[in-house]
Amino acid sequence: MSVRKSTLAMARYRGVLVTGTDTGVGKTVVAAGLARFLRGEGLDVGVMKPVASGAVESEAGERVSSDVVALMTAACCSDPVEWVNPYCFIPPVAPALAAELEGVGVDLGRIGSCYERLSSRHQLTVVEGAGGALTPVAGKLSVADLAQRLRIPALIVSRAGLGTINHTVMTVECLRSRGVECLGFFLNRFPRTPDLAERTNAGRIAAITGVLHLGSIPDLEDPLDSGFAEHFLRSPDRERLREVLLRAEPEESMRPRVSGPRSGEGRRSGEAAKP
Ligand SMILES: Nc1ncnc2c1ncn2[C@@H]1O[C@H](COP(=O)(O)OP(=O)(O)OP(=O)(O)O)[C@@H](O)[C@H]1O
Ligand SMILES: [Mg+2]
Repeated sequence: MSVRKSTLAMARYRGVLVTGTDTGVGKTVVAAGLARFLRGEGLDVGVMKPVASGAVESEAGERVSSDVVALMTAACCSDPVEWVNPYCFIPPVAPALAAELEGVGVDLGRIGSCYERLSSRHQLTVVEGAGGALTPVAGKLSVADLAQRLRIPALIVSRAGLGTINHTVMTVECLRSRGVECLGFFLNRFPRTPDLAERTNAGRIAAITGVLHLGSIPDLEDPLDSGFAEHFLRSPDRERLREVLLRAEPEESMRPRVSGPRSGEGRRSGEAAKP
């Protein structure tokens, strides 16, 4: 099922959650990198950070989340920031707690309608979670609960070293227990000279969970710029990443011809074409 560059790429999913085994593990690097990688494959990509905390206030009095800026830059996003990031809090704690400290209720229905707007505009929307899969985003509801409500599968970003088998397997179990499909995992910040644990972790996680290892990402010089996409373009892992997220669409000349009225035919004169 290889997706060759010569065919038009189509997204297999309307959206995908980028979650991780912990905060600071590299979710933004992977989510922004994926947005650039998929744009390079010809896709129109949307981005979303449903709930951000630890934002700062600009001189103009606007709240700025560095994750939101990184995602929007990577996707060349011109969507309203209120759709991309409906909730943005200052306290640097878990989103549900930050919301409570600010006296705000996080409404998953509002997040859902922002996601619907974005995913109706774009072929695939990359959604960055917050913290790990069980980090609370609205009261007791977690990132995993949000993915289940948005009906999107997940990609997991994990650390490379000792301890990551436990964290990654727990993350997979937690997502699956809510009916969220796990498409694959990345080991991030993979060292140049890996130790025994680093060399064997990916294989063991894949064997235990059956989840695909999508790649081990080294330390990148420009992690929020083109580093991730360039790494995958050079790596044999790129085919697996393509196959997980994309499928090939027959080119125009190869599509079956549909008989019947062409676009615009069959309408009475003066009747407007439907958008
Ligand atoms: N592969 C990498 N190469 C170099 N730096 C990296 C890499 N991955 C992550 N980093 C750096 O590690 C830090 C944390 O990464 P990132 O912000 O992507 O984590 P996160 O999981 O999104 O964190 P949060 O939970 O705060 O959203 C950042 O400074 C980032 O630039
Ligand atoms: Mg982040």
